[in-house]
Amino acid sequence: MKKTAKKIINFKKQGKKITALTAYDYSTAKYFDKAGVDIILVGDSLAQVALGYGSTTQVSTEEMLVFTKAVSRGVEEALVVADMPFLSYHVSIEEAVKNAGLFIQSGAQAVKIEGASPYILKVIEHLTQNGIPVMGHLGFTPQYINTIGGHFVCGKNVETTLELLRLAQALERAGAFSVVLEMVPTESSKFITQRIDIPTIGIGGGKFCDGQILVSDDILGKYDDFCPKFARKYSSLKDIIFNVAHAYCNDVENENFPNIQESFTLDSEEAQKLENYT
Ligand code: KIV
Repeated sequence: MKKTAKKIINFKKQGKKITALTAYDYSTAKYFDKAGVDIILVGDSLAQVALGYGSTTQVSTEEMLVFTKAVSRGVEEALVVADMPFLSYHVSIEEAVKNAGLFIQSGAQAVKIEGASPYILKVIEHLTQNGIPVMGHLGFTPQYINTIGGHFVCGKNVETTLELLRLAQALERAGAFSVVLEMVPTESSKFITQRIDIPTIGIGGGKFCDGQILVSDDILGKYDDFCPKFARKYSSLKDIIFNVAHAYCNDVENENFPNIQESFTLDSEEAQKLENYT
């Protein structure tokens, strides 16, 4: 049965841990969905891991929409959340609603946006009032990398944890159905998780969050340009990809590929005629 934003909120009430992963293509999304992942995020992390850009600020709405369509076609049950890219919701509320609508029309059932400034809270209010569920994102927020100046842990003392709690509560009041906590100490995210009714989804947020999310290329061991401390590797797909390509090149170069089963053949009479043709 299809998971909805409402069901994700209920998972917190039921004490069920929420599972979330990013995906960027049809087949990966299909198998994550079959494995029972609750939320599949078309993350703007695809800027780096799928498109090779230097940061998430470089990916456009048009590019994100292509990946959102591919992922949505592979998913039956999971809630598909599309990351709204840099500048797609910053210029005006009208533009934010229009762009979020494009992601919903592309097959997502919710969008994710970063931050909780007074303007962002207004955007969230408008989106939810227009039938678009919103996942918030606090802590380290990659779209602000140029003003933050690097990858830093957020909420490292009581004062900054209280500020994060204030922002999480503001997101909840604005109508967000969940909030990602990125690079937040375990004790701080526990403190926040216990004080809001919407689920917290941690990425480098420790074990007390209501759910966890990781970047698929990290857990699959496919992307190794940068590996954050919190990303557990369950495989080494980069080695599998390298070894497969290497073995294929060897087979072609040594005429071991293709064999007869992998080829089309003429019937023997036609083959003989062709052989004798001058
Ligand atoms: O784009 C992404 O992969 C994300 C995760 C960090 C949650 O936003």
